[in-house]
Amino acid sequence: MPNCYIETLGCQMNKADSERMLGLLSELNYQETSNLEDADLMILNTCTIREGASDKAYSYLGRWNLIKQKRPNSLIALAGCLAQEKGEAIQKHFPFIDVVFGTHNLHRLPDLLLNAQKTGERQCELFENLPEEIPETPIIRQTKVTAWVNIILGCNFNCTYCIVPQVRGREKSRSPEFIKQEIEQLVAEGFKEITLLGQNVTAYGLDFGDQRNLAWLLRYIHDIKGLERIRFLTGHPHHVDDYLIETVAELPKACEFFHIPMQSGDDEVLRRMARIYKVSDYYKMVEKIRNLMPRASITSDFIVGFPGETHTQFLNTCKVVEDLQFDSCITAMYSPRRGTVGAKWEQEPVLKVSDEEKQERIRHLNALVTDVAEKRSKLYLNTIEEILIEKESERNNQMWMGRTRAGKLINFPKQGVFKQGDLVNVKITQANPWALRGEIV
Ligand code: SAH
Ligand code: SF4
Ligand code: F3S
Repeated sequence: MPNCYIETLGCQMNKADSERMLGLLSELNYQETSNLEDADLMILNTCTIREGASDKAYSYLGRWNLIKQKRPNSLIALAGCLAQEKGEAIQKHFPFIDVVFGTHNLHRLPDLLLNAQKTGERQCELFENLPEEIPETPIIRQTKVTAWVNIILGCNFNCTYCIVPQVRGREKSRSPEFIKQEIEQLVAEGFKEITLLGQNVTAYGLDFGDQRNLAWLLRYIHDIKGLERIRFLTGHPHHVDDYLIETVAELPKACEFFHIPMQSGDDEVLRRMARIYKVSDYYKMVEKIRNLMPRASITSDFIVGFPGETHTQFLNTCKVVEDLQFDSCITAMYSPRRGTVGAKWEQEPVLKVSDEEKQERIRHLNALVTDVAEKRSKLYLNTIEEILIEKESERNNQMWMGRTRAGKLINFPKQGVFKQGDLVNVKITQANPWALRGEIV
């Protein structure tokens, strides 16, 4: 049987896509290998969210070329968001890439691969848009207890820093019936927790033009027998309304976990980012969440050094992180992306924040984020949490790794008859910013 190796860069959307590629390839009898040197097919699933992400892809390609020279019959495929953005140009530059496909035509992988094998010619196929009907594909999961379930593809916002709408297209919600079937199948296979996935998951159903939205979907899937936990990722503050928050609070399986990127804590910067909410709107949302679910985890992404961001505006972001006490934040220095408004502003010397200043700001913000995360973690000390056992801890096979309902990572010693997929009560004995430790009680 032929082997394939997939390297996945980027976000959960890409990770979920890689699982689909594995599913499609299994129909051609491919088996996954974790050994690159052994692979008949090497797929690079790329990201282009920042310059650093695309640079990473180029460095992989350089290394893979050397491997291919030793194994001339192996094939290299370029997939994902960078491929969608400029796969054709990349293939011209790196002619050893055999197959290029994008985020809109992932389902075409088997045909393209067979064509490449049959003709010995390079294949490049990129669709400008998603197909009218989202193709349902087989999936081979990399996990056993928790799974991602795509519910919406694409994004209709136009944040002025972001390339995602260009490479992931317009929003398209997946049929609720298919979503439910997929979850039922997962539960039958022993999965206990699902994360409803999308770049903009809180826009679910808007394209249906009826009452069905994310809150509706949560109710629609909630009573699936054997399903224990439901999460969703990533939300946009604009679409997190009171009803959604109330629904999460009300439904026992909906976890108190909100990853709702805020991006900046300054109204003027938010306006220029085209985020369409104000700092005060975000505060109201957090207040509502914490009123109904005091234990909820709220996490965010922030960008520092967006063109024109003054030092005072940056300090407003720091103030928000302290005020709102995020459980964790993903921070990034602004990186100009082709075809975005922000990239034009970055060309203007009066607007561009220097690289040194960006570095200084991110250092400062990261220290603050860690500080706040530690405080939030410490609140868990001596409490008893319901933990879903996901797998053995990577560093110690005598320990389990799991998560609290709010999504906090925890390691604890194996004890008793418990196994992967069980829910256990764990007393928290240690807390650092990003993880907890505890003991089964
Ligand atoms: N759909 C999500 C996030 C998409 S991209 C949302 O709306 O929030 C993931 C994160 O990458 C973003 O939250 C943002 O913080 C970061 N990001 C996107 N474009 C960026 C850029 N040009 N430079 C730096 N960070 C960026
Ligand atoms: Fe990008 Fe904004 Fe869409 Fe998120 S909402 S994917 S940041 S354009
Ligand atoms: Fe990157 Fe594409 Fe995700 S650009 S962040 S992999 S949607």
